[in-house]
Amino acid sequence: MGDPKHHRRSVRHLLSVSQLSLEEIQEILNLSSEMEEQLKRMPQLNRLPGRILASLFFEPSTRTRFSFEAAILKLGGSVIQAAGSSSSLEKGESFEDTGRVLSRLADVIVLRHPLEHAVHEVARGSSVPVINAGNGSSEHPTQALLDLYSISKAHPECRGLKVGFVGDLLYGRAAHSTIEILSRFETQFALISHPSLRLSSERLAALQMRGCQVLETQDLQSVLPELDVLYVTRVQKERFSDPSHYEAVKNAYRIDATMLKKAKKTLSLLHPLPRLDEIAGEVDHDPRAGYWDQVSNGVFVRMAVLAWLTQKSVSSLE
Ligand code: NCD
Repeated sequence: MGDPKHHRRSVRHLLSVSQLSLEEIQEILNLSSEMEEQLKRMPQLNRLPGRILASLFFEPSTRTRFSFEAAILKLGGSVIQAAGSSSSLEKGESFEDTGRVLSRLADVIVLRHPLEHAVHEVARGSSVPVINAGNGSSEHPTQALLDLYSISKAHPECRGLKVGFVGDLLYGRAAHSTIEILSRFETQFALISHPSLRLSSERLAALQMRGCQVLETQDLQSVLPELDVLYVTRVQKERFSDPSHYEAVKNAYRIDATMLKKAKKTLSLLHPLPRLDEIAGEVDHDPRAGYWDQVSNGVFVRMAVLAWLTQKSVSSLE
């Protein structure tokens, strides 16, 4: 109880990219680049010594979980973790109480959960920053930040780009958050999907309200030559209630070397991964394939997010 963090009036969480101003997005990108530069000179930065990250994943994860864990270790902190049935949520503890408890044991909480509201409730109970590492099919804000950071390497201003999103735009939370973040940068969107996996009408309306140009199509070949970025997504099998629907749409799009002949030489080909059959293995060595670098960028960006939220939450005490 004597710990001042429990008296904070306001603590910054990262639940949605919509909570970040353009200026704050820029601060996080700059900090990510600083982290990347510093890691070239030393394997570990002593920026969050002694800080503990509580890592709670209730859905499968390789990249997101390990990159958060690598990020806190690289910053000089450490990890405590629970996965699946190993926490008291299984005994019926509320999400809010879980937030209350964990914020007395850790300095930051990272949660992935299939229920969209879970992370919001954990945050309500928590007096330390909570980071949404994927809530159902809704959002995945740190993926959006790392995607933007990856795009900024090839297109430093990130502004006015033609960006195609292909695959599952209905259930893909990575696509949702990345579309949302890019909508702040005058992006011209091509949304390419099977008709049953289109972006929801609410999300589409929000893009149009922001003044973004949006083309919805099923025809990838026709828009590909124009694109600066193509963001490919996995059809989210786990969100389908009808397996035959998944079977019918899962292979609607596949990017291969022949198809890429029609794309710009400067295209950035991105994918949040895991990739199933959406991108042929032969594409992996094409210089336009940016998805492996996205994985490395994920560590720099998550280091930046951890340092940034910690700093914002400390300054809210003053
Ligand atoms: C994504 C996710 O979990 O939303 N993966 C990730 O975090 N890199 C995309 C996906 O699972 O298809």
